[in-house]
Amino acid sequence: MQNWGKLNKHFHRLGKNSIQELFLKNKVRANQFTICVEDLVFDYSKTLIDKLVMTSLIELLTSSEVLLKRDSMFAGNKINTSEGKSVLHTALRKPKVEQLWLDGINVMEDVHDTLKRLAIFSESVRNGAIQGAGGRITDIVNIGIGGSDLGPEMAYKALFPYADGPTAHFISNIDGAQITECLSKLNPKNTLIVVASKTFTTTETLINAKTARQWMIEKVNPQSIEKQFAAVSSNIDKCIEFGINPSNVFGFRDWVGGRYSIWGPVGLPIMISIGQERFQQFLKGGYSMDKHFRTAPPSRNLPMIHALIGIWHHQVCGYATQAILPYDHRLRRFPAYLQQLIMESNGKSITLNGEELKLSSAAVIWGEPGTNGQHAFFQALHQGNQVVPCEFLIAANGHETELTHHHNMLVANCLAQSESLLTGRVPSSEDATAIHRRCLGNRPSTTLLYPKLTPFVLGQLIALYEHSVFTEGLV
Ligand code: F6P
Repeated sequence: MQNWGKLNKHFHRLGKNSIQELFLKNKVRANQFTICVEDLVFDYSKTLIDKLVMTSLIELLTSSEVLLKRDSMFAGNKINTSEGKSVLHTALRKPKVEQLWLDGINVMEDVHDTLKRLAIFSESVRNGAIQGAGGRITDIVNIGIGGSDLGPEMAYKALFPYADGPTAHFISNIDGAQITECLSKLNPKNTLIVVASKTFTTTETLINAKTARQWMIEKVNPQSIEKQFAAVSSNIDKCIEFGINPSNVFGFRDWVGGRYSIWGPVGLPIMISIGQERFQQFLKGGYSMDKHFRTAPPSRNLPMIHALIGIWHHQVCGYATQAILPYDHRLRRFPAYLQQLIMESNGKSITLNGEELKLSSAAVIWGEPGTNGQHAFFQALHQGNQVVPCEFLIAANGHETELTHHHNMLVANCLAQSESLLTGRVPSSEDATAIHRRCLGNRPSTTLLYPKLTPFVLGQLIALYEHSVFTEGLV
């Protein structure tokens, strides 16, 4: 607890300052507290930290098991002790040349065989070699929930400028309204259904899959199931039992957690939509973050610094929630995706040793894209009496080259919001109502900046958060 004690003292020491004063005292602050890794820039200078805080946070990290467990995770050791499993989603984005031996088997061969099958299947759907009863497949419906839905849907929307394959749709809710609305718009003869479920036992997914199967049998014929249904799962027998053609079943191992599964077969709708070459770029982005996480020293390690800032805000400063604010319409499902990634991973109250956790577990994550959020809840961020650390995400360039004036306004809004959270605003007017417009400022925010939302950048971004969650959990 010694390190936590030190951090609490820092918080009391710095509480006498404002973040703005820290900028005035240190002219190189913005550079000092910004870290770049390939296409990602993380600016954490607008938070109430200084060099001494960072040193103590790094000490906290190095005194924990993070470095040991990180190496153990990449080596394939069974670090998930409660379930006796390895944690190897990183293997899904690793190049084939890098072997990884698990119980005497090089798992990279299996991973790349599946990747190859996925690529062949995707390209066949895209080029019309695989057809429905009515000819070319024009639409894909992904049926899954949680990790089997949030990742593919988020990434499909994020990479929409690259989507030149069939249109993807996503059904997750057991509420019949969702499947009714979705299927009623589609022609069953040109639709491919992908049932995504790691366990293939999840009630919502099985009920929705049965309804879709019935829809296709009634509107087309029973034979259509063989061609127009695929499944991604680690429970292959159950997929076949459901009636899915074994050559359309893509498996993955139990060492891939559901919320970490986007990189493999669960990414099938993304691969069909953007093509396998761009999907490879996405994997490369994730892999490049893995290399960085494995090799960079803690003080220059982006996921580690990111996690430490989260720990500082939640466990030390006591801020209960964190807002994720993508100034990027295409990342509109990113806050929902992160809710599962972060809160399903770290929202626990028992430690690895089976003891009651003495600290608060993890911040509640919420958020909406900018600028929409500005007209909904930003008043509370600026004027409310709860401090909410905000994470902004923004691309230097948009995809709409003919609408750069929109993008310039988007960037200006994003930067202005983080500045305004920092500086606040006290209306000078003598008017008695001025107090009601007061913004206190001194509100922490971080910014993730990237040149453009490409498949590579999305891969980097997701892997960054995955490793940050891992680090935060272990600390
Ligand atoms: O709600 C728990 C959960 O197991 C999540 O972790 C998972 O992403 C989701 O349900 C769906 O599970 P499956 O992919 O096995 O259908």
